Amino acid sequence: MAADAVLFILEGKVTLITGGANGIGESTARLFSHHGARFLIADIQEELGQSLCNDLRNSASFVRCDVTKEDDVENAVNKAISEHGKLDIMFNNAGIVEPSNPSILDNDKAEFERVIRVNLVGAFLVTKHAARAMIPARWCSIITTASVCSTIGGVAFHAYTSSKHGAVGHMRNAAVELGQYGIRLNCVSPYLVATPLA
Ligand SMILES: NC(=O)c1ccc[n+]([C@@H]2O[C@H](COP(=O)([O-])OP(=O)(O)OC[C@H]3O[C@@H](n4cnc5c(N)ncnc54)[C@H](O)[C@@H]3O)[C@@H](O)[C@H]2O)c1
Repeated sequence: MAADAVLFILEGKVTLITGGANGIGESTARLFSHHGARFLIADIQEELGQSLCNDLRNSASFVRCDVTKEDDVENAVNKAISEHGKLDIMFNNAGIVEPSNPSILDNDKAEFERVIRVNLVGAFLVTKHAARAMIPARWCSIITTASVCSTIGGVAFHAYTSSKHGAVGHMRNAAVELGQYGIRLNCVSPYLVATPLA
């Protein structure tokens, strides 16, 4: 697609990015901002998120949001609506990986649940509240960062692989329901990207 066409598509679009303070989220924010999108960065890293917002070209603001907490997610979506009157693009990107790769025999239940909570329950909460704002508006887009681990096994740890398979399943199901309102849901599935997570 020609650069001008991209510019036209993103100009003025209100975008909320979870996990936007760092890595893939930060790079996306910088690129979208360059093409005229307006922004909310939602993350648990306040200082980093705030300093990114100061750097972005168009009106950008930071909202502290832990995607595992429904109140935080609801508040982030409400802030987009109160500041910009709409939400066009939801980038469901926050994610973590477990710090070590134990055998399934030693895999700790609490550690497994922590990754599922951020990567899968978080994706569900973000989609739910974005949809609430988008259904009346129609013609919006929800994008989830899945992974190569969404389709194959053995590349990453147990919880991460399970959460990313789940994220694609969640997106497919929600796409069927929300498609009737003109809301498009897609996943992007990167292989290895050099970020703090990787
Ligand atoms: N880097 C890779 O190789 C790679 C490959 C495939 C998929 N991904 C996915 O891309 C997404 C972004 O990862 P990244 O590589 O940019 O990692 P990153 O660690 O650079 O960024 C992740 C961001 O998510 C935020 N975050 C973590 N827990 C959160 C929570 N509970 N609530 C809100 N924000 C939270 C972090 O503060 C951070 O800013 C993740 O979903 C990850 O699984 C990454």
